[in-house]
Amino acid sequence: MFDEHPDGSNNSGNPSLSDLIEVRLGRRRLLQGAAAASLAGVLAPQLASGTAAASGASAAPATGGRKRSKLRFEEVPPSTDDTIVVPPGYVWDVIIPWGTPLFNHSPEFAEDASNTAADQELQVGFNHDGMHYFPDGGRHSRRGLLVLNHEYTDANQIYTAAGSAITPDEAGAEKVAKALAAHGVTVVEIRRGKDGAWSYKRGARRNRRVTGTTPMAFSGPVGADHPMMQSPVTPSPIGTLNNCAMGYTPWGTYLACEENWNGYFGTADPAWAATPAEARYGVSAIGFGYNWHIASPRFDVSVNRNELNHYGWVVEIDPQRPSSTPVKRTALGRIKHEGATVTEARGRAVVYTGDDENGDYFYKFVGERAWRRHLARGESPLDHGILYVAAFDGVDGGSWLPLVHGVGPLTVENGWVDQADVLLRTRQAADAVGATRLHRPEWVAVDEKTKDVYLTLTNGTGNDAPVNSDRDPNPYGHVIRLKEHRRDNTQLTFKWDVFVLAGDPAYDPAVPTDQPIFGSPDGIWVDSLRRVWIQTDISNSSQNRADRGYNNIGNNQMLVADPDTGEIKRFVTGPRGCEITGVIASPDMRALFINIQHPGESTSFWNTQFGAPTVANPTTVSTWPYGGRPRPATVVIRRADGGVIGL
Ligand code: FEO
Ligand code: CA
Ligand code: CA
Ligand code: CA
Repeated sequence: MFDEHPDGSNNSGNPSLSDLIEVRLGRRRLLQGAAAASLAGVLAPQLASGTAAASGASAAPATGGRKRSKLRFEEVPPSTDDTIVVPPGYVWDVIIPWGTPLFNHSPEFAEDASNTAADQELQVGFNHDGMHYFPDGGRHSRRGLLVLNHEYTDANQIYTAAGSAITPDEAGAEKVAKALAAHGVTVVEIRRGKDGAWSYKRGARRNRRVTGTTPMAFSGPVGADHPMMQSPVTPSPIGTLNNCAMGYTPWGTYLACEENWNGYFGTADPAWAATPAEARYGVSAIGFGYNWHIASPRFDVSVNRNELNHYGWVVEIDPQRPSSTPVKRTALGRIKHEGATVTEARGRAVVYTGDDENGDYFYKFVGERAWRRHLARGESPLDHGILYVAAFDGVDGGSWLPLVHGVGPLTVENGWVDQADVLLRTRQAADAVGATRLHRPEWVAVDEKTKDVYLTLTNGTGNDAPVNSDRDPNPYGHVIRLKEHRRDNTQLTFKWDVFVLAGDPAYDPAVPTDQPIFGSPDGIWVDSLRRVWIQTDISNSSQNRADRGYNNIGNNQMLVADPDTGEIKRFVTGPRGCEITGVIASPDMRALFINIQHPGESTSFWNTQFGAPTVANPTTVSTWPYGGRPRPATVVIRRADGGVIGL
């Protein structure tokens, strides 16, 4: 349900990148005629397409002095099978599925979903999402911490056949508590065995769950003592929710991001109405239909309104210190943070973050000083700096506009009280300065060699828009690339281009025919070989449907591109009803970790074939991974011969 964003909540009238891309498309068509196929442009001439370049797990010899491909595997075809498909010569293993007991005293997973909220607090959460691996030791480390987000829960899957309705009694409160316990973050020690396979260590000292009820600290301009943070049910803030993508810092911490937090709240109070600021974040009396407010006054916006202001932040977690309190870093702004991708420039931390809603914006935070200097002063590098929002110009440039109280329109005369007010209402501040609207900005990745910044724009006005070749509405999405001035990520101007257009040329002639078909890019990561991994999250209302232009594309998938050669190939396909998200490798690139989120979720195409999943029968769409109740999980992909992934 989180990928249905038909309208968004941005009525600012600010310019939209889709219009600018239209200008670029028109210009290129004019210049290049039929070569509009290379609209992606940056994806320069393809060295070899698809399977022509394939050589399985063994490397092909270099020829003619050309660079050897960095994608030396046999591309997998689109798939509608209820399984993981990897290239020949590769193997995959499931680790830490939802419900895995993390501690020695954790209960075992109950296949009938009868684990209680208290059980779930001690088990791996649901709907694995953004993820990072913190290795112990160096490049050949065999052990480390996997840290991953749990975005949301599916009532058909986490509750027993007795029912999922939230009732205003203890049974309803227990259901809310179980969902809260399945949200948040898992920290888990994993290790590589002698056979090369990876497994988790139950009871490891650093194993931890951060959930929807873990005590939270606030830091930066918006403190927990701010008047707008005072809420009667939660006088001390607790919990993080809807943790989608993530980031990690040079000083060894993990950043969990709060995305569609608005959907958890609601009220039955007919007198309640959203303020303009609340409406700008999509807060409504019905929320996303979870009905948690029926059993929990914490989520009733009429009773506990300021609880809303506890969400929409980036949460810093020290994975090495299981008893440390997570900290919400308010200087990074309050939006629907997809992720928070950190890079270092001039010694400073620069954090890129997309606000994933149709028509919302792309932000970056630039630290005030070198991050080491902040740490030496006993400060967080994420508490001191300036938040900017991107404005794209009509050709190929753009600039970063500061969201600073007293600067530009953000003045007292215009109703902006102070910097805390600017941050609490980040979306409206960005509206005021004239930021550029985007088609759902999701993950960001930085190429650490070139300092190029990749941003996925997953799709436009929902996948229900008519399929056509313009990019508004934009059913397939695309990846754009920013080059900051002088390759310095602290600079305030940039150039941009379209890195790759997603889609199926059978429906959209603008999509190149010499690249794999895919749609709705979401996760993106640049590995140590500078290969760009792209993961897809086609909504469950569009997957496999011809009337949405998605019947050839199959289940969600992961691709990999070489930005130097333009080569792009499909590497893995997922089971039914899932999205593929979260991507990181071991430092030696011999194990690739990905997450399979929401396998078996209600998916309109499969529902028509097999019936919609229910609490009584959650397995109609998928039985992945073990042939029974579908369970989100981490998958480790390796080469059978133990070699480097992709080479
Ligand atoms: Fe949770 Fe924007 O994907
Ligand atoms: Ca999703
Ligand atoms: Ca996502
Ligand atoms: Ca998504």
